[in-house]
Amino acid sequence: MSYNILITGASGYLGGTLLARLATVKERFPAYGNLYALVRTEAQAESVKQYGAKPLTFDTRNGAEVRDNVVNLDIAVVYFLIDASNSEVQVNFIEALGEVGRRSGRAVHLLHTTGAKVFSSHTGAPTDRPLLDNDPELYKIQKSQRSPYTRMQEAINANNTIVEEAEKHGVRSYIFAPCIVYGEGEGFGNKISIQTVAIVKAARALQRVYKVDQGEPSWPVCHILDNTTLYLQLLCRILAGDDVPHGKNGYYLASSGSIVWDELYTAMAAALAKRNVVGDAAVVPALGNEDSQILERMGAALGCPKEFVPLQLGGKCTLTAVHGKEIGWRPEFPPEHILEAADAEVELILKNL
Ligand SMILES: NC(=O)c1ccc[n+]([C@@H]2O[C@H](COP(=O)([O-])OP(=O)(O)OC[C@H]3O[C@@H](n4cnc5c(N)ncnc54)[C@H](OP(=O)(O)O)[C@@H]3O)[C@@H](O)[C@H]2O)c1
Repeated sequence: MSYNILITGASGYLGGTLLARLATVKERFPAYGNLYALVRTEAQAESVKQYGAKPLTFDTRNGAEVRDNVVNLDIAVVYFLIDASNSEVQVNFIEALGEVGRRSGRAVHLLHTTGAKVFSSHTGAPTDRPLLDNDPELYKIQKSQRSPYTRMQEAINANNTIVEEAEKHGVRSYIFAPCIVYGEGEGFGNKISIQTVAIVKAARALQRVYKVDQGEPSWPVCHILDNTTLYLQLLCRILAGDDVPHGKNGYYLASSGSIVWDELYTAMAAALAKRNVVGDAAVVPALGNEDSQILERMGAALGCPKEFVPLQLGGKCTLTAVHGKEIGWRPEFPPEHILEAADAEVELILKNL
């Protein structure tokens, strides 16, 4: 029997690209039933139809509405790509999926999109060694993590709650961690990412690229298409009925490797200087700078208090992708590609901001 699938975040950067690419690989995929896409407007509802998806609109915070849709439509796979910082909505989906599973006797699946930040120096994760995404202790590590940022602690708790609630309801959960994702989104909605956009926004406001960390911390990176092929590889294996590692062993980082932030700042500063967005291509430390207002001004540009600026475009993350490769995923773009692509990334961002 083929699975019905629900993709959320269809108008977003990650979800839009996923939906667009899924349509192109459908013929090579194990058969699936109905493909649904969660949308919030009439225009979005029209747009998702081009990918063979049936639009659904309901309030995800309302458990009864979620249940009505998931159970009545016999949805067995939910991909959640909306909000990494909370688990309230995902628990609604888990409860509904649990009911579908009990009724049908089939495996049911929830994929939650978190972020690499939840496994980084910002969130009390180990950074003194590579933190493998297939480490059998990862769930325990997440349980012990403490973040100075309330919102990030909520994101850690969200991952833990999803794993626990899914286990309780007989749902297979997958915690999918995108990192610094770059490249043009292929969906009908948002075409640009998050961290590279933050670098451009801050640089544009201050007319200079500032680095926010001491030392040379690194962070995993991933081209949008590689990020998407990991979503798809997981889906392909799920649809094939394979027992893909899940629950307390179900963490997946989409990344081909890491780069040092300074290298990314430098490559983006050159592209920004070329377009006269910044005065020159220098990368200057924000900390210890005579002008103590710098972080505050960067925060104003990013819409956050100055304490949150390093969270947007800095920090150290040693999360390392192993799990995806174990299930057959092969990233195409090496980590250095983000540096080669920095000029195009800046162009894309400036066009879309
Ligand atoms: N992009 C990255 O590099 C990256 C890296 C790590 C983690 N993540 C995480 O991955 C998730 C998706 O990221 P993204 O870059 O794709 O974000 P995005 O482009 O902003 O897309 C967010 C999507 O969620 C939808 N949405 C928001 N609130 C909703 C609600 N209440 N009900 C239904 N749909 C809702 C949006 O719909 P509308 O268009 O209607 O607003 C949009 O489709 C986020 O949690 C993000 O933090 C992203």
